[in-house]
Amino acid sequence: MTTPATDRAAVKTADKTVDETTGTTGSSAKVTVKPAERSGNPGTGSNEPKPFDYTQKTVRTEPVLDEAAVVSIRDFNLWYGDFQAVHNVSLNVPKNQVTALIGASGCGKSTLLRCINRMNDLIPIVKTDGTLTYEGVDLYDRAVDPVEVRRRVGMVFQKPNPFPKSVYDNVAFGPRLNGFKGDLGALVEKSLRRAALWDEVKDKLKGSGLGLSGGQQQRLCIARAMATEPDIILMDEPTSALDPMSTDRIEQLIHEIKEDYTVVIVTHNMQQAGRVSDRTAFMHLGVLIEEGPTDQIFTKPKHEMTERYVEGRFG
Ligand SMILES: Nc1ncnc2c1ncn2[C@@H]1O[C@H](COP(=O)(O)OP(=O)(O)O)[C@@H](O)[C@H]1O
Ligand SMILES: [Mg+2]
Repeated sequence: MTTPATDRAAVKTADKTVDETTGTTGSSAKVTVKPAERSGNPGTGSNEPKPFDYTQKTVRTEPVLDEAAVVSIRDFNLWYGDFQAVHNVSLNVPKNQVTALIGASGCGKSTLLRCINRMNDLIPIVKTDGTLTYEGVDLYDRAVDPVEVRRRVGMVFQKPNPFPKSVYDNVAFGPRLNGFKGDLGALVEKSLRRAALWDEVKDKLKGSGLGLSGGQQQRLCIARAMATEPDIILMDEPTSALDPMSTDRIEQLIHEIKEDYTVVIVTHNMQQAGRVSDRTAFMHLGVLIEEGPTDQIFTKPKHEMTERYVEGRFG
């Protein structure tokens, strides 16, 4: 791999003639890009992106067999009003593995992730079609309760978002809501231990969750997600607001928890995808372009667009 971040910044700067230091557009871009590297129409002199062929098939290497999939997404489409953000995506998510969704900003990673726990239902203009099953059950079936879906499929967001409550009450929140009847203290402790936070907070369970450091807050949110005993944990760029040490801690945690959970993670950071995931799915403009074992996606991608993305030439 080349140095993606630098290359990417250079291409972006040149294509858009944006001076990243001042944020102004104009003549200040110093980097030129060879015509072959542009995304515009070759030979026309136009910088307009080529219309994307939505009919093309996803490239898959060592596909996840249906039997191994805990979540199966089939021919799934999603619209925000008239705008289609997800185009005919089919993806099998294997149990007890980490699947990373990568792709340029706005390509639909978060939208696709939110389809898995029906979070998009909360947006009134959203329409979907296709099927999405969890252990064989169609999650979009009318008989399925979205609240139950979100209990089984937990979610961790980009910015740590503890409730303005104590550490204990943050973790106890979901189980209380679900009418948990067992030993709540034991469940809180178990969840905090699984999120590798117990030792740091065991003496301040009554203190506010907001009083913790950013990295601890994110682990608190992971503990909160775990407390409803989900099978799947979705993470949308969970470390992008964290410092490198806290990032490292969360990445280590992702490694540890996959014994018990299936994880789907959106990440902007390709090194992170390389470090934490078993499989990687690359999206572009709402289309799933290529999916396969992470090593293969990063070292021997089959689709030219994946290659350009992982080498940092766009995005
Ligand atoms: N609530 C929304 N209403 C309308 N359009 C949206 C909404 N959320 C996302 N989009 C659009 O859907 C596309 C995919 O967005 P998103 O899933 O957030 O991409 P990513 O996570 O890859 O950056 C983008 O064009 C974005 O502008
Ligand atoms: Mg996103």
